[in-house]
Formats: sequence, structure tokens, C-alpha cells
Amino acid sequence: MKFFIDTANLNEIKEANDLGILDGVTTNPSLMAKEGIKGQDNILKHYVDICNIVDGDVSAEVIATDYEGIVKEGEALSALHPQIVVKVPMIKDGIKAIRHFSDNGIKTNCTLVFSAGQAILAAKAGATYVSPFIGRLDDVSTDGVDLIAQIAHIYNIYDFKTEVLAASIRHSMHIVKCAEVGADVVTCPLKPILGLLSHPLTDIGLEKFLADHKKA
Ligand code: E4P
Repeated sequence: MKFFIDTANLNEIKEANDLGILDGVTTNPSLMAKEGIKGQDNILKHYVDICNIVDGDVSAEVIATDYEGIVKEGEALSALHPQIVVKVPMIKDGIKAIRHFSDNGIKTNCTLVFSAGQAILAAKAGATYVSPFIGRLDDVSTDGVDLIAQIAHIYNIYDFKTEVLAASIRHSMHIVKCAEVGADVVTCPLKPILGLLSHPLTDIGLEKFLADHKKA
């Protein structure tokens, strides 16, 4: 399973990358705004800065919602750096654009996916990744991890090459549950990744080993 970090914060990306477990980055317009990245030139430069930290796929989201606009914006994003994956919303023109990008060798991440039907369309269009948002489903009393399992099962039956990228992850157990049901990738903020490190018995055990070593 691949680990992506879901942030536009360069320090957090560096910290996760330094752990040696990072396979890529996802961003979205909200995450860019949170870091105060404004203006087209600054946004494009920020994507390149991210690519220069991590050796892996970096999702950059289009703002356009019409086919021509998505294609134009996506091609410009893709030309920025070989690691860029064009993130396209799950809408009718988005699916058409994903087909265009796929036919032209441009990697895509189909975002804002909330149902298996949407995930089937993304795979049929040739998306590189499909991003079901599990935390936002949990927020409305629908089990997000169940959707990951359903999509992974369907993709497996038909041998779809699209990778299931579990997104909108809120806590460490989401990561473990997604691993259990066969997500290809998880993307989440730094905190749930670091949360995987912690166990009180590890802390207690280490404290005792160090204390015993001092006695020896
Ligand atoms: C995925 O690519 C999105 O950027 C992200 O995971 C959305 O997460 P949120 O629901 O916490 O905003």
C-alpha cells in the first residue's frame, strides 16, 4: 500500500518524506488556500516545490469545470513537472477530460468520489487514481471504509488498472481499515500517519529496557 500525504504544507511534506515512507502528495484548492498560496504563478511554483521534495506522484487539482477548460488547465499542470498528476472532479466534463488525458499519457486522479458507480466511470475513463472521500461519508452516517472495500472488489473482478486512493482520512484507524480492505493508496494529513507509531506498551517497554541497561 502506498502512503501519500494530503497537504500543501512544505514542512509537513518534508517531515513525512524524512520518515522514508512517503510515496506521493495530494493537494486540493482548500489545502493550497490554507497555506496562503495565492495567484496562479505562486500556485504553480508551489506544485514544483512539492515535486522537488518528494520522489512520487503529486496531485494538482484543476479549477475549471468545463471540458475545454479542464483539458487546457490539466495540460498546463502536467507540463510543470513529470511527477504531476492532474486531479479532476467527478463530473460529466471531468470524465470526458480524464479519457482525453488517459489517451494522451497524462496521469489523473478522479476526485470527490462518493459512490461505487462513480468509481466505475472513473476506471472506464482510464483514471490513474480514484479518490473516494471516506471521512466525509462517515460525517453523514455512511461507512466510508465500506465504499473502499466495494470499489476494490469491483476493480478486482474486472482487473481495472485504476488505483483506489482512499482520501479524506481523519485518523490512524482509517488507515488500518483501508489497508485491510485493499486500498492501493491512502492519503492523509501528517497526524494520522504519526499516530500509527504510537503504542503505550512500546513506550513502557522502551523505558524499562533503557532503565535496565543503566543498571547493567
Ligand atoms: C483528497 O485528495 C482530498 O484532498 C482530501 O483527502 C479531502 O479531505 P477532507 O475531507 O479532510 O477535506
